[in-house]
Formats: sequence, structure tokens, C-alpha cells
Amino acid sequence: MRVIEIRGGKGDARALTPGERPVPEVGRGQVLIRVRAAGINRPDILQRKGLYPPPEGASDILGLEVAGEIEVVGAGVTRWRPGDRVCALLGGGGYADYAAVDARHALPIPDGLDFVQAAALPETAFTVFTNVFEDGRLTEGETLLVHGATSGIGVMAIQSARAAGARVIATSRGADKAQAARDMGADVSINAADGRFLDAVREAGGADVVLDMVGAAYAEQNLQALKPGGRWVVIAFQSGNLVEVDLARLMRGRLTLTGSTLRARDADEKARLAVAVEARFWPWVADGRIRPVVDKVFPLEEAAAAHAHLESGAHTGKVVLSMA
Ligand SMILES: NC(=O)c1ccc[n+]([C@@H]2O[C@H](COP(=O)([O-])OP(=O)(O)OC[C@H]3O[C@@H](n4cnc5c(N)ncnc54)[C@H](OP(=O)(O)O)[C@@H]3O)[C@@H](O)[C@H]2O)c1
Repeated sequence: MRVIEIRGGKGDARALTPGERPVPEVGRGQVLIRVRAAGINRPDILQRKGLYPPPEGASDILGLEVAGEIEVVGAGVTRWRPGDRVCALLGGGGYADYAAVDARHALPIPDGLDFVQAAALPETAFTVFTNVFEDGRLTEGETLLVHGATSGIGVMAIQSARAAGARVIATSRGADKAQAARDMGADVSINAADGRFLDAVREAGGADVVLDMVGAAYAEQNLQALKPGGRWVVIAFQSGNLVEVDLARLMRGRLTLTGSTLRARDADEKARLAVAVEARFWPWVADGRIRPVVDKVFPLEEAAAAHAHLESGAHTGKVVLSMA
């Protein structure tokens, strides 16, 4: 099968090169997916640079999410049949014609979505669900502050929070991106190109939950933007991981600081999340409140160009590889 390999084990986008590998074996409890499209995520860039090694037992091939048809059903799998259209969360191995995945980590492709749109869903849906709604405990009538609002994660956060009846304050760096976040449903959209957003968030009433992918540079403002009882949920630290936190402020405000990574969680935990995501988010996909925003599609062989595009930061929403 065709795959994308990282020449030399790590490097810049140009290290991504087409190669060939055997089709993966299908183990007990797994399905083999004929991959039609694979979503690209920021963690793929980190892995390509050698900064985010795959967890024990995961494929060394990049790719955390795919959509396609089931080709082979492994022993012990009852839910799926050959030919079923699914999208799935992977620990790796998505940039390939075939991927063997835990059958419990596959979800049906909602009606009306093509493979490219479906491949744009799993990683952001699982991540946003568990961080915003489980750990962040966002509920109807509350306010979510989301940074990087036009990222793949940001778009999913805006759409799902709105679907849940929450208000959304979005930040992004640049007027065009701020407009795009507004168009995607953010109630308040802040151009934080100068690194400042606190005054505007306060003017909008503050936040109950912050979904933070920025880290150090925004830490102080995040802390001050939270309402009493607020939750600050860290999913990345793109500007640095070391911060000084005023614990007195945490105590006075009854604030919660938490964070997580999805990929490192074990298979049972991802299976639990798959059930919850299907129950909570899939109806919102079906009724259009969550709709994949695909910025650009690249053929599998052009994975290097696709990475360069994502790294340029010019995108809004998701960048996807197509195996067609
Ligand atoms: N913890 C987890 O389980 C988990 C899972 C998936 C993804 N993530 C993380 O979530 C983030 C988004 O992922 P993605 O795939 O959606 O990525 P993406 O589309 O490439 O977006 C990255 C976003 O980060 C923003 N950003 C980067 N550096 C920044 C800085 N110094 N200050 C402010 N904003 C900054 C960019 O904002 P502008 O557009 O305004 O430039 C951009 O919107 C990544 O950091 C990724 O590693 C975490």
C-alpha cells in the first residue's frame, strides 16, 4: 500500500515522502479500513519534527484520524461489516491506503458527509468533547473562551459549544481570522494579534471555561478572564509551558486548572470517549450544527505541501489528505 514516510526519521515538511509498506494485519477486535481521506493535525507536525513520539505500540506512520470503508472485520467485532462507511480515531498510521484500528474507535459517517469531511472530525471531536464538556464541564448558558479559534480544534469548539447553548468568545491573530470565527458562530470574536484579549473578554462578561492551546503567553490573562468557579483547560502550550500562577487568585476565584492529551490515553478510555462523542456530538453533526470546515485537500503524495500549508498558519479549519 502507499504510505507517507518521514525520510531520516524527522525533519521539515520536505522530509515527508511517498513510500510503500505491506497492508497492516488485522488483529482481534480490529477492523481494516480502506482509507479514503486522512485529517492532518498539529500534533502530526510535532511528530514529524521528532518532538512527539508515537505511543508504545502505535504505527510510526503519521495520521491520527481517517475516513473510509471497512474492508476486513477482525475476530470478535460485531458492530461493523465490510463496506460500512466509517471515520476513526487512530494512535497513528492514517497517512496510508489502509489502517488497522480498534473497532471501538470507529464511528459511522453521518449522512450527507463525504470522506474528506468525515476525516476532519474524529481528532477534534474527541479532544473538544473531553476537554470542554467533561473536564471543562461547560453547560448551557455558560461562556467558553477559545483561543486559536480558526484552528481545527477551535472550529469544533465554537460549533459544539454553540450547539450546547453556551456563548463563545473567540480569539485569533488577525482581522480575517477574527471575522472567520464570527462567521462560524462566535458571539464575540477578538483579534488578539497584539497578544491582548483580557479587556475585551471582561467587557463581554468573562469566561466560565477557557480552552487553551497557547500556554505561557496567555496564562495571566486566562486566569484573570475567568469568572468565579471558572475552569482553565490546557490542551497545548504553543508559546511555552512554564508559567507563574498566583495561587491566591485560584483560591479566591475557586478556579480549576487542568489539562490533558488524547493520544496517550489507553484503548478502553478512547472507546469510552467514542461512545460519548457519538451520543453527544453526532446528532449535532446530523442536524448541521457541527459541520466540518475543510480549508484545503491535498492528494496523499502531496503530504509535504499539506504540512507546509498547515505550518504557514494560513488555513481556517482542517487540512485533509485524499487517497482518491
Ligand atoms: N491535548 C490534546 O489532546 C490535543 C489534541 C489535538 C490537538 N491539540 C493541540 O491543539 C492545538 C490545535 O490543533 P489543530 O490541529 O487544530 O492546529 P492548527 O489548526 O494548526 O491550529 C493551531 C492554532 O494555534 C494558534 N497559535 C499557535 N501559536 C500561537 C501563539 N503563540 N499565540 C496564539 N495562538 C497561537 C494559531 O492561531 P492563529 O490562527 O491565530 O495564528 C492556530 O489557530 C495544537 O496546539 C495541538 O497540538 C491537543
